[in-house]
Amino acid sequence: MKTYYITTPIYYLNGVPHIGHTYTTVAADVMARYKKARGYDVKFLTGSDEHGQKVELAAAQAGVSPQEFVDGLAETFKGIWEIMNCEYDFYQRTTNPEHCDSVKKIFKKLYDQGDIYKGSYEGLYCTPCETFYTARDLKEGNCPTCNRKVETIAEECYFFKMSKYQDRLIKHYDENPEFLMPLSRRNEMLNNFIKPGLEDLCVSRTSFKWGIPVEFDPGHVIYVWIDALPNYVTALGFLSDDDSLYKKYWPADLHLMAKEIIRFHSIIWPCILFALDEPLPKQVFGHGWLQYDGQKMGKSLGNAICPKALVEEYGVDAIRYFLLREFTFGPDGNFTPTALVTRYNADLANDLGNLLSRTVGMVEKYFDGTIPEAQAENSAIDRDLIEMATTMLEKVEERMEKLAFSEALNEIWNLVRRANKYIDETAPWVLAKDESKAPELATVLYNLAETLRILAVAIAPVMPNTPAIIRAQLNITDPAHATWESAKTFGLLPRGVDVTKGPAAFPRIEKK
Ligand code: ME8
Ligand code: MG
Repeated sequence: MKTYYITTPIYYLNGVPHIGHTYTTVAADVMARYKKARGYDVKFLTGSDEHGQKVELAAAQAGVSPQEFVDGLAETFKGIWEIMNCEYDFYQRTTNPEHCDSVKKIFKKLYDQGDIYKGSYEGLYCTPCETFYTARDLKEGNCPTCNRKVETIAEECYFFKMSKYQDRLIKHYDENPEFLMPLSRRNEMLNNFIKPGLEDLCVSRTSFKWGIPVEFDPGHVIYVWIDALPNYVTALGFLSDDDSLYKKYWPADLHLMAKEIIRFHSIIWPCILFALDEPLPKQVFGHGWLQYDGQKMGKSLGNAICPKALVEEYGVDAIRYFLLREFTFGPDGNFTPTALVTRYNADLANDLGNLLSRTVGMVEKYFDGTIPEAQAENSAIDRDLIEMATTMLEKVEERMEKLAFSEALNEIWNLVRRANKYIDETAPWVLAKDESKAPELATVLYNLAETLRILAVAIAPVMPNTPAIIRAQLNITDPAHATWESAKTFGLLPRGVDVTKGPAAFPRIEKK
């Protein structure tokens, strides 16, 4: 079986997750479910980044130990993934002892082979972002990520010889044009950062304690990226007693993240892997930021939207749908409550919700809840719907493979809208008035029910709960009628099915 290993970043535990964090995790979960549906052996990793000065300070302020502090927040994050219906296989924590052991081994190996050396660092440092910058990185003299002031600091530290791997990295980019996507980001990294020259990277700190110690030099802790990035391989047991998962699932198929950490994943991480003589992930994909009023959403800006409240109000499937349908995956997207209500009412309440309730309602009304065996031959209008229904999934696959979630959903909704139009065109309420048209009426309702069966399959990766609602109403019980491949064939739904009307799947929301 083909394997598929997908990751999100491991999130910093310095606050509760907001809807911006969930953007990446939901997208990764959708890809994982989609690949599973297509028969891949999938592993999906998320986790938390638990070391560093910020955590140390926050824990002290809260009056608890750093470990207690991160233990609590790790549970909070896991709670949010449950609410968002994200089913990861691994939750890696950088305080996990196995992770710490492997990272120590990585650091020692690179030191022993001369890729890590001791020096002294003077640099521009942004404390909130825990990141060093060079003068050319700064934006109007400030941190390019958060816009705050940076400070000049000097300290003894270990360096990772990134410069040594520059040519190899350029070669890798040349030979793997889709290594970093979207293409705009690839060009930015190559031209602005890699080709001008890679600088050696400071990989230890002495100014705080909360980190993985450098065993051969107490006083130094391993500093963020050599600790965080290897989580993708330590989660698979890399350099542990049992590395069978690593052998099976590495290299990762996809590292997913937002644009501000692409640089670390597309430059530092490849260089670490080069130094370890291990294969590179097949693809790094950096999407845009969810913004609120044109600013990156984040707790430090005070514009963070709480996922739990949204899910309680709209339902988890609606929020997942909105995140992936409303914003093109790549550029930044502006989150507004109005856009959410508009999208919900149009696509979910009106289009999909109505298609289901109209179909089931008409079967109840005209045929006592059972689509009869008798059928008429398909007319041109019928054949048009059937043609669209049987070709939809292939188009969805094409878009999904490119992480074009919004376009994939649009392909599905083209069919939803086509099916609603089909109801208007065939006018079942007119057919119902004429006894001799009963076979035509049965055909129309069968075709609608069968289209809904196909739609339930297609929406499942994005909306994992809704298919069960559709299937319960249409009484689809055979698992063979719920597989991905089954949605490429029209006519599998047994005739003579009994339907059961349920409450509206997506009740309309009145604008406040
Ligand atoms: O950077 N819009 O962790 P982090 C879209 N620990 N995505 C957003 C977002 C927003 N407004 N806010 C956050 C770190 N994200 C490191 C990563 S990986 C080895 C170490 C998502 O908690 C997005 O995926 O700051 C972004 O890259 C990630 O959260 C960063 O989370
Ligand atoms: Mg961040």
